[in-house]
Amino acid sequence: MVAAEDSWTRPLGATGLQVSAVAAGGSPLAGMPWLYGYDVPFERAVATVLAVLRGPISLIDTANAYGDGESERRIGEALRRAGGLPDGVVVATKVDPRGRDYSAARVRASVAESRDRLGLDHLPLVQLHDPESFAFEEIAGPGGAVEELVALRDAGEIGAIGIAGGPVQEMARYVELGVFDVLLVHNRWTLLDRSAGPLIADAVGRGMGVLNAAVYGGGILAAAPGTSASYAYQAAAQETLDRVDAMHLICAAHGTDLATAALHFSLRDPQVTSTVVGLSRPERVAATVEAAQVELPDELWPELEALLPPERVWLDAPFEH
Ligand SMILES: NC(=O)c1ccc[n+]([C@@H]2O[C@H](COP(=O)([O-])OP(=O)(O)OC[C@H]3O[C@@H](n4cnc5c(N)ncnc54)[C@H](OP(=O)(O)O)[C@@H]3O)[C@@H](O)[C@H]2O)c1
Repeated sequence: MVAAEDSWTRPLGATGLQVSAVAAGGSPLAGMPWLYGYDVPFERAVATVLAVLRGPISLIDTANAYGDGESERRIGEALRRAGGLPDGVVVATKVDPRGRDYSAARVRASVAESRDRLGLDHLPLVQLHDPESFAFEEIAGPGGAVEELVALRDAGEIGAIGIAGGPVQEMARYVELGVFDVLLVHNRWTLLDRSAGPLIADAVGRGMGVLNAAVYGGGILAAAPGTSASYAYQAAAQETLDRVDAMHLICAAHGTDLATAALHFSLRDPQVTSTVVGLSRPERVAATVEAAQVELPDELWPELEALLPPERVWLDAPFEH
């Protein structure tokens, strides 16, 4: 299913869920200074989620493991203060292992923990989170985590299921199983990295919903010039940093800023159902929605494209299907 480019709310693949073009990413909400370089106090996170619930963003993405459950707890607290889940809002979460346990039993326990923290009886979208540090055969084999997620969905205990992670070769193996409704990929379909091209095309061809996460590369593309040196939570190559500096200048010359361009890179791609942006400040919500509505000049795109870093500095080598 290809999302209509000009509609804010669109179907998420064949899940039956409707989601907004921009989704609120719940990872920074947990307060994880080792990942983002700053802490987020509880009340600021709750206020951010309340701001989301009052606005047009209708998809919130979180995970069992973000801050050891803190992201889900904070979202759950905001939902309670809002008097429950507003109509049309989708809270998507992910199952996570506990230590080296990513068994079927752990999947059930993870779902139960998420329900409890979020205060939601029904989880409309549950994604298998970051399976790449486990053997594919263990996770996707008989009696494994994938089989359990499929069984939970088919029994109606959870809604749709997705695969959420990074390394594209490994994600492709999960997509090829043909059992997932949604693909979430991060940091690999941005102004700086296109490793996920064939993966996303494959998911779209299968009718899956596509969530493109971390279009700011974890912050660098939204930060003021010269204030961030990491991409995807790790040190960026000097070549990449130089290109970011040049991109800032091009955006300024076109009367916009790099954050807006980085967001629109994903928004303008009809393959992407929703673009997942990490937010942990209430004022970011309206600013992001406003940025999503800005019209950018067509001439901007070839100029930014000319600065795309070479494949050798992308997170993953692209692959052929
Ligand atoms: N494996 C997975 O499933 C996976 C992996 C990565 C990401 N994700 C999902 O995707 C979401 C997005 O990824 P991400 O949060 O890591 O990275 P991101 O969206 O690329 O960047 C988020 C960072 O950008 C900052 N930011 C956002 N808008 C800004 C603006 N207008 N000006 C300045 N700074 C701005 C945020 O700051 P503030 O915190 O100050 O608002 C935050 O530090 C995550 O939250 C998560 O839901 C999933």
